Amino acid sequence: MNRATRNDPLNPGTEALPVQVVPFDSVIGAEIRGIAIDQGVTPAQYGAVRAALDRHSVVVLRGQTVTPERQKAFAQGIGTLRPLVYSRYSLPGSPEVMVVSNIRRDGEFIGIPDAGSLWHSDGAYLAHPDMYSLLYGIEIPERDGQVLGDTLFTSVWKAHDALPPEVRERIRGRYCVNSFAWHLEKKAALGDLRRAPLTPEQKAATPDVTHPVVRRHPHTGVPCLFVSEAHSVEIVGMPRAESDALLAQLLAHLKAPRFQYRHRWRPGDLVIWDNCAVQHLATFDYGEIPRRMHRTGSFGPAPVPY
Ligand SMILES: [Fe+2]
Repeated sequence: MNRATRNDPLNPGTEALPVQVVPFDSVIGAEIRGIAIDQGVTPAQYGAVRAALDRHSVVVLRGQTVTPERQKAFAQGIGTLRPLVYSRYSLPGSPEVMVVSNIRRDGEFIGIPDAGSLWHSDGAYLAHPDMYSLLYGIEIPERDGQVLGDTLFTSVWKAHDALPPEVRERIRGRYCVNSFAWHLEKKAALGDLRRAPLTPEQKAATPDVTHPVVRRHPHTGVPCLFVSEAHSVEIVGMPRAESDALLAQLLAHLKAPRFQYRHRWRPGDLVIWDNCAVQHLATFDYGEIPRRMHRTGSFGPAPVPY
């Protein structure tokens, strides 16, 4: 419990709600109650959200009314808001807010229609991957009363903990090439690519990077597996066949349901996750039923090997 006075110019001096963190039954994930983003958020409340993220990796704030300005302010409150790398689907007037949607207007998607079809963490193909991502659900698809378009999260530190000791020893000190261009080629080969092609500027902004296979969490210090089916091309200094086999083993391990939380969306959900601690996957079971979300991200540090 945490009681603080608001520090919000819209509501000066008013008493904030107590913040409650309610863990889910799964190994990661918690709901945060007691924050109404449209009423303003205090520094103490931001601190409670950051602490909950360090502990639970994914947090959910239900029933929120979040304008793009409030979402950017919230991202800034828990980290440092970053502009989008892939800016084609940014919200008009808000270059830091990405629209995630399958809705078309005049034949063009109003948002990115194919994000997250492979397990990944956001910005893993950048020298400074995203620390936190914030995804706000506006239109959530349903069919026959069944909510569609769940997002799955898997804990990469719980997964690392559960690796056999000989595998942990094999990957210690190793590095992996991560590539956005390879990611798009892989999606295209799988038939999952629906977005517009990269501009030459976007291509130039996303050269391949090399990251540790196991990175140290910048806050908690725990070892986190940092290879993904979306972005990891090969382990450096290892014969390609051996690298392919080891990556396949690690990626299969990461998908085990015992490391996961599955988020079933409601309109008004703001879901925030720690990209060092989890990977995520979108499900595409809603076809053309409209789905619309706003996503923002924050800068993270350069990954440090464990
Ligand atoms: Fe993502």
